[in-house]
Amino acid sequence: MSIRFALAKGRVANQVIDVFEKLGYVFPDYSKDSRKLVFTDKTGEISFFLVKSPDVPVYVEKGTADVGIVGRDILLEHPADVYELLNLDIGKCRMCVAAYPETSFNYDTKIVVASKYPKIAQDYFNGLDQPTEMIYLGGSVELAPVLGLADCIVDIVETGNTLKENGLVVKDVLFDISSRLIVNKVSLKTKEGLLELIEKFEKI
Ligand code: PRP
Repeated sequence: MSIRFALAKGRVANQVIDVFEKLGYVFPDYSKDSRKLVFTDKTGEISFFLVKSPDVPVYVEKGTADVGIVGRDILLEHPADVYELLNLDIGKCRMCVAAYPETSFNYDTKIVVASKYPKIAQDYFNGLDQPTEMIYLGGSVELAPVLGLADCIVDIVETGNTLKENGLVVKDVLFDISSRLIVNKVSLKTKEGLLELIEKFEKI
């Protein structure tokens, strides 16, 4: 049976597919616009499927995927019982608190925080003893301060363009993020060819 990869849809998946190609794997059915969900290489050795990033650790923990590639942000927000084996040094960005430049935090008053990462955000503000009301949003989080839904956001910043174009600034950096290769615990011991494949990834 092929080695199955769960990849987070988007830019990082495209970079990983480039790595597969560098390693000599060819996916005849794959194109960026394809609506197909699972792609297998010509030799049948490896296959991958594309999912939303928070689902990657779920598929790997359950063993539906042997390997997953996903950002550190997702692993911290959605902890999973998997091995994290490699830092692939792609998909680099930072987890930040952002708000309008004039926004200041008064630690006696509750602030409203919007985030796709409520756990990370809550842990951060708990550490500061800052009372918060946490609002979970699924995307376009920058809208929350712009429309008055929240005082600040906790979100990933890559180029900084989204913040800039919406008049927001970084108030604090929580941590650096990059993509990690995670592996199902049973697959690591039992799946033929998996260790060799991970070694090849490490070299690239
Ligand atoms: C992410 C993130 C920011 C943006 C940051 O959103 O949540 O909105 O990228 O990138 P930048 O610093 O390069 O501008 P994504 O594009 O994944 O979509 P989403 O807002 O729908 O989650």
